[in-house]
Amino acid sequence: MRYFLIAGNWKMNTTPAEATTLASTIADGYAKLQPNRNIHVLMCPPATSIHAAHEVVKSAQGISIGAQNCHQEPKGAFTGELAPQMVKAVGCTHVIIGHSERRQHFGETDELLNNKLKAVINTGLVPIYCVGETLEERQTNKTFDVIQTQMATALADITLESASQLVIAYEPVWAIGTGLAATSDQAQEVHAFIRGLLAERYGALAGSILILYGGSLKPDNADEILSKPDVNGGLIGGAALQADSFLAIIAAAMKVQ
Ligand code: PGA
Repeated sequence: MRYFLIAGNWKMNTTPAEATTLASTIADGYAKLQPNRNIHVLMCPPATSIHAAHEVVKSAQGISIGAQNCHQEPKGAFTGELAPQMVKAVGCTHVIIGHSERRQHFGETDELLNNKLKAVINTGLVPIYCVGETLEERQTNKTFDVIQTQMATALADITLESASQLVIAYEPVWAIGTGLAATSDQAQEVHAFIRGLLAERYGALAGSILILYGGSLKPDNADEILSKPDVNGGLIGGAALQADSFLAIIAAAMKVQ
């Protein structure tokens, strides 16, 4: 039976009250799907709604809460930022690191992301490290070079021991929020490439590192994308904000298992 991580990235959506409603609807629906130990569900609300969502799922089986970002330092004069320890203390188990919106709008570089990854891992949280090419990079055949650089710089000095706590998300920038997902073959091709890079770095462990696909993953394309051998789950934006569509993607993962 295959293992899948199905993660929702709620971005800048939901007040605490809205998060409570969405998390409860998802948790109730998930319980009815007869969850098994090989499907794990993650919801990543905005920071101000983490506590509310965690309160809903803290005793649910197979569901946890993640943060969308954190700072690389444990504390200090960084107005507006949150340390890894802080998101852990409010119940997060995972943190999304290097989402393309953070790279694009907040100037996050691979070097900075390397520091964030180390800080997150050292805190005992699982990072979901996002990589992916822009449309222009794909059209000029730079996809593999871009991914290779994003992986090499950000994973520098990350040891084999800590890599078992690593999740990668392949999110082609042109597919995020556009409704135009990668085809399952395009996703598999890049996932296999990422798996190869992980194998060069970590050997056999690469086989068990989860590589999620993100970018317009929806109920109608989830079966096909999740059925590819190197796709170990999804990082879902728009479709994670509606309980029905998020649950349909979870159901697709169960079917593919
Ligand atoms: P999307 O977002 O599913 O709305 O394309 C995915 C993401 O940004 O993680």
